[in-house]
Amino acid sequence: TINQRVDSVLNLMTLEEKVGQLNQYSGKEVTGPLSERKTNQLNDIKHGLVGSMLNVKGVKATREIQAVAMQSRLKIPLLFSLDVIHGYKTIFPIPLAEAASWDLDAIRSSAHIAAKEAAAAGIHWTFAPMVDVGRDPRWGRVMEGAGEDTYLGSLIAKARVKGFQGEKLGGTDAVMACAKHFAAYGAALGGRDYNAVDMSDNMLWETYLPPFKAAVDAGVATFMNSFNTLNGIPATGNSYLQRDILKDKWGYKGFVVSDWGSIGEMVAWGYAANNTDASLKAITAGSDMDMESHAYITSLAQLVKSKKVDIKLVNDAVKRILYKKFELGLFDDPYRFCNETREQQVLNDPENKLIARDVAQKSIVLLKNELSLLPLSKTTKTIAIIGPLVKAKRDLEGSWIRQSDTTLVTSLYEGIRNKLDRNTKLIYAQGTDIMGKDQNNFDEAVATAQKADVVIMVLGESWDMSGESKSRTDIHLPGRQEELFKAISATGKPIVVVLMAGRPLIFDTISDKAQSIVYAWWLGAEGGNAIANVLFGDYNPSGKLPSTFPRSVGQIPLSYASYSTGRPIKNLNDIKYKSAYIDMPNTPRYTFGYGLSYTTFSYENLKLNKDLINKNEVLSIEFELTNTGKYAGEEVVQLYLQDPVASLARPVKELKAFQKIALKPGESKIVKFAITNEMLSFYNRNLQWVSEPGQFKLMIGSASDDIRLQSVFRLK
Ligand code: IFM
Repeated sequence: TINQRVDSVLNLMTLEEKVGQLNQYSGKEVTGPLSERKTNQLNDIKHGLVGSMLNVKGVKATREIQAVAMQSRLKIPLLFSLDVIHGYKTIFPIPLAEAASWDLDAIRSSAHIAAKEAAAAGIHWTFAPMVDVGRDPRWGRVMEGAGEDTYLGSLIAKARVKGFQGEKLGGTDAVMACAKHFAAYGAALGGRDYNAVDMSDNMLWETYLPPFKAAVDAGVATFMNSFNTLNGIPATGNSYLQRDILKDKWGYKGFVVSDWGSIGEMVAWGYAANNTDASLKAITAGSDMDMESHAYITSLAQLVKSKKVDIKLVNDAVKRILYKKFELGLFDDPYRFCNETREQQVLNDPENKLIARDVAQKSIVLLKNELSLLPLSKTTKTIAIIGPLVKAKRDLEGSWIRQSDTTLVTSLYEGIRNKLDRNTKLIYAQGTDIMGKDQNNFDEAVATAQKADVVIMVLGESWDMSGESKSRTDIHLPGRQEELFKAISATGKPIVVVLMAGRPLIFDTISDKAQSIVYAWWLGAEGGNAIANVLFGDYNPSGKLPSTFPRSVGQIPLSYASYSTGRPIKNLNDIKYKSAYIDMPNTPRYTFGYGLSYTTFSYENLKLNKDLINKNEVLSIEFELTNTGKYAGEEVVQLYLQDPVASLARPVKELKAFQKIALKPGESKIVKFAITNEMLSFYNRNLQWVSEPGQFKLMIGSASDDIRLQSVFRLK
């Protein structure tokens, strides 16, 4: 068995070699601040002092370095890891965008293609998916997650883990996934990266932990801990998280890698006196592999020798890592992932692009479509296309990609041009640059708009404005882009605004005045074709927001799963002594679950098979969904529940189920859901997962604020 093979290797290892397995170095393309300690990496590898490399990619490079590991005494293969976040060579939409598809199969196949490409390029392990619930759009890393919702996020976590890893680890078309960042990183104070987190245990268990648990249940091979403290204790040194919850309660058998330098950063946090103390705290707390702190490699052997660290802890960490190397088949063939022919074939497979386009169009959210301006006619005579992102390629790719190749990217301009015949004149003006610094030629843009029948404006954030270390205090559309919109709007021409960004943005004037708004996130290499499909009706948009879009930064954090408060607003004209702002509504600009289609759907005839159930019974519900418009389309039907009276105040609604349903015009379908006791349960004040007898409210709708059917039932 693998366990026996692991033990036989462990028995041969010196203490230094064991510690070496827990050591991970970065190649040249760094993704964090480098340690001050100078190393000769190849020399360390040759001496068995390195277990894994990150940021080395490609068959040639990984083969060369693996060959050095093969010169070490025990020839233990290295693990090659990389942040393959939304595609390796074929760039897919950013994860937040894909979450807007609510299409788990599409999300899974996106992860699968990314894994296939990365594995063909010598990579064994991706640092994805990020399963942090993100409720603060200031935080740059919201782009990397599945949005604000725990339930949706848990299903997406599972889809991504399965997509990256396949059903069983070990295929050369798959990589190990990594659930990160454990835990609660999404709640960093003020939306500032690397910041502290303070939260109740109930919030932790109910909102932030379930996507991690879902990843464990899906068989995720690895975990990464996080930079933040949780209630004063850095996640990296947190035994409650890594030992009590992850390894003991959840029975997780994989290993935990630290985040970049996060063991050493416990010193700056004021939680460890020096790197040696940090090593002691990290290994004790269950951090198995040290990414670029150089703390374990410089101090752990001595800590064991001086009996400050029990060798059992080191052995356990080493075994977890060796186990994965065996599972990947690397002990049998350390070059399994190093096949030049496969690399060429897989990286040039045209199929990958088609899948990227499919996922991209599914990720687009139609926010507004007054007077059905969209879809545009393909025989429109003159279309003005204006804005700093019209011809963007690098910005379409977004952040967190590991090799930009803009020759593979179709800009929106090209996507539109390819779709229309030469009878349509496409006229272009940039108008302004993203930050409004150098190029502001509003006059030319206005003159261009005046010559057109319809204007498409393409605005947003540049690729480096969201992602790691890219938090913003101001999430308005940057620069002078809204001003440009106002100038174009003054021409009276109908305007479609396409927004590209790595987070929910605020764009008040556009929200109020544009006829149509298409939220296109950063859609990757096929973004231009995907958006053009939506603009001209070759794809009917079906995306729904996975995150709330606030009206103002002052409302953050803002989620649909909010609390009633003791003084809820009943009437908008009467907010005195109510839980309200005097300068703005409490409601968001666009809510969770919202997104339009070119068609319309009716929800009718809700039926419950009972109105009273036992805990071990299932409540069956059904209703009729009809496509009442002119286009074939897909609707994401959302089911929310509320426990109105409970031993702890509960949110006003929580997503508990959804289905994405395709219907032709005039077609109807009976949609069925089953409500189980699990869906009625929550963590009580003793952190027990319980349901409580009493009444429940059932809400079914097209968005969290567009409930079409409701009812109540009781639990005995
Ligand atoms: O995987 C990332 C992590 O999400 C943030 N810090 C750097 C790591 C490795 O690149």
